[in-house]
Amino acid sequence: MTIAASIRATTTNKQLMTNKIKILAISGSTRKASSNLNLIKAIANLGSETFTIDIFERLSDLPHFNPDLDNENVPEQVTDFRRQLREADGILICTPEYAIGVPGTLKNAIDWTVSSMEFSKKPVALITASLSGEKAHSSLLGTLLIIESKMTADTQLLISFIKTKVNDDCKITDKTTLHSITKVMQSLTEIIITEKTGLLSAPILMNEGINSGESEIMI
Ligand SMILES: Cc1cc2nc3c(=O)[nH]c(=O)nc-3n(C[C@H](O)[C@H](O)[C@H](O)COP(=O)(O)O)c2cc1C
Repeated sequence: MTIAASIRATTTNKQLMTNKIKILAISGSTRKASSNLNLIKAIANLGSETFTIDIFERLSDLPHFNPDLDNENVPEQVTDFRRQLREADGILICTPEYAIGVPGTLKNAIDWTVSSMEFSKKPVALITASLSGEKAHSSLLGTLLIIESKMTADTQLLISFIKTKVNDDCKITDKTTLHSITKVMQSLTEIIITEKTGLLSAPILMNEGINSGESEIMI
């Protein structure tokens, strides 16, 4: 039996949001069989009626950050990364912890945005999904806040023992984790709706249940 979660909003939100929300997702793990990548794909399925998730696939292609290269002739990969960040309504970062810290490739990517400020005022959800992950989560939160990402306590989540909670078919198999992730994505979408409409988003009701079908988030 799989767990289904659905988030329903009032008609007001549906009327205000005629287009789907565009989220750019970044996996801090570049592993092919990454749990974090699987988690991103699971979240994309959960919220397919509300948002589209594009996965940034060029994390490993970004050159090592060097302030000397951070000028009007920045490498093309960096320009492309910055453009994708700018065009997104919100950012979802899912990452493991490596050696009690943030994976170097992810930190490198973020360093490229410090001067160009793509994270500034951008709604961001951070999910650290790792064996334990506490240090990376707190370090990354500090980084995201200093570069002015728009986050709340509800748009961040630490998931330990991730390999037991998302499977190779990109399904979240742990009920508590599914509930927590649903809340994170609900909060992120509420912030984005508020940003886009300039109005407080309508109250969103959460309706969780158990069925044999796919999990879904709907607004
Ligand atoms: C080089 C390396 C260092 C790791 N260090 C940590 C660590 O400090 N803390 C932790 O929670 N997990 C650590 N792990 C385990 C990862 O959290 C775990 O393998 C996780 O599933 C990786 O994410 P992924 O499946 O998305 O690649 C480490 C894994 C590797 C490969």
